[in-house]
Amino acid sequence: MAHCSNQAVAVTRAFFDERAEKWDAMISAQHAVRLRQIIETLPIASDAHILDVGCGTGVLFPILADILDTQGLVVAADVSFAMLRETRTRINALRQQRSLPAQLLLQADITHPPIHHSSFDWVICNSCFPHFLDQQGATTTMARLLRPKGALVICHTESRNAINELHRTVGGAVGGHELPDASEMARLVENAGLSLDTLTDEPDRYLLLAHRHA
Ligand SMILES: C[S@@+](CC[C@H](N)C(=O)[O-])C[C@H]1O[C@@H](n2cnc3c(N)ncnc32)[C@H](O)[C@@H]1O
Repeated sequence: MAHCSNQAVAVTRAFFDERAEKWDAMISAQHAVRLRQIIETLPIASDAHILDVGCGTGVLFPILADILDTQGLVVAADVSFAMLRETRTRINALRQQRSLPAQLLLQADITHPPIHHSSFDWVICNSCFPHFLDQQGATTTMARLLRPKGALVICHTESRNAINELHRTVGGAVGGHELPDASEMARLVENAGLSLDTLTDEPDRYLLLAHRHA
């Protein structure tokens, strides 16, 4: 695994490191169900190369494994090494049952990833955008990682209001971590050189979809 060198995210990293082992028991069982419903609306090709940003315990991986064949690639990146360990356990369990797309686990702050630009057909930023301290920097980096015509997905399995309220309630290291409003999100993705396709904000689904031009 590549090593994360960005000290600015140390507090966030420590927060998630401490919670990684119990994370799946802490979150709603609906998270994976709703996430699957969101991802299955996307036209992901079976050989797509996908970056799972802030992969956490790897909840997205089994969903992508149902879409991708062995030509597909998932790079699961997270700043928390403990979260990546949980992802590895999940992937190893799945490997006993079926063939999988290629996968790489990477410890990295998404604003400074050790990845060449124009590498991915999809960059999926699931349930982690509010935690980025430099939201414009993260958006610009994610945009650069897309191949021409590639798409950025920023998604949550709850509404923006519910996510922001949750972080305010939890407080501490994530207390001020907010998902910006729709006009600010549009500004962030357009400043990153992407075209905004859709922004849906509903009780069980937040989905921003933007693409890089050909
Ligand atoms: C709320 S958890 C969500 C995890 C997973 N995507 C899910 O849906 O369960 C947010 C994740 O983002 C990661 N994260 C936060 N800031 C990050 C950054 N700057 N770069 C990469 N990962 C980050 C955290 O370590 C954590 O695992």
